[in-house]
Amino acid sequence: MADEVQKLSIPDLVAMKKEGKKISMITAYSYPQGLLVDEAGIDIILVGDSLGMVELGYSGTTPVTMDEMLSHIKPVTRAVKRAHVVGDMPFMSYNISIEQAITNAGILYKDGACDSIKLEGGQEMAKTVEAIVRAGIPTFGHIGLTPQTAGMLGGFKVQGKSLDAAKKVIDDAIAIDEAGAFAIVLEAIPRQLAKIISQKVKGITIGIGAGMDCDGQVLVLHDILGLFKRFTPKFVKVYANAWDYQLKGVKDFIDEVKEQKFPTEEFTFTMKEDVINELKKYAGV
Ligand code: KIV
Repeated sequence: MADEVQKLSIPDLVAMKKEGKKISMITAYSYPQGLLVDEAGIDIILVGDSLGMVELGYSGTTPVTMDEMLSHIKPVTRAVKRAHVVGDMPFMSYNISIEQAITNAGILYKDGACDSIKLEGGQEMAKTVEAIVRAGIPTFGHIGLTPQTAGMLGGFKVQGKSLDAAKKVIDDAIAIDEAGAFAIVLEAIPRQLAKIISQKVKGITIGIGAGMDCDGQVLVLHDILGLFKRFTPKFVKVYANAWDYQLKGVKDFIDEVKEQKFPTEEFTFTMKEDVINELKKYAGV
């Protein structure tokens, strides 16, 4: 059919890097959010384990389970027609063994029907990435600040600032790229380092707090829309104030119910007068 929406493929995304066209990526966790960001024309949707904080009320990403990820990936993939959808692997779903990693990557990819999976880690995860890719599952890496293991990095801090630390981030990127990841999230690293990595690797680089020279940019939906009030990191730009907008809607509803302004006739069903009279007699009112 002429106007059927075409799904963005991995070669399409890699071609965007080659042509210098910037790639947009955003998180989404539900059916309506999937519909919204796809209609807006986003290139990549990440059902991220940031789910834990922005939708499930956890204080971090580590408590998120495979079941929770799966039940949020499924509605997003049902909603999306064009964007490439990435399912995030939760902490401890791939860290124990390569076999465990392939099994769980397979569950998200097969049952969740996403287009790729993402996992955090550099050189230490290269063999795992290689095995998942060899099993036929497109894989996204995530290096620099890795929230699942932020405790090991001394907290949520910019990574790769010293020469040695920066060399390690470059080595992590090369290891994940050579392992076959088609894309890598670069989180919270100096922009000059992100530029060097973006020039060096074959795969696409998607920055979050990594400056403008990455091949694309990702942010969390709730942060850019101001969906609720929480700490806003330096690298987040807020494009809308959805919290106040929604709060006003709910408050207006409460006020109209209390003041008997809702529902008016416009929102009400009715029935014939003779039937009403019979009913009243029947009910004795
Ligand atoms: O889980 C997530 O939302 C992420 C992005 C912020 C990159 O990993």
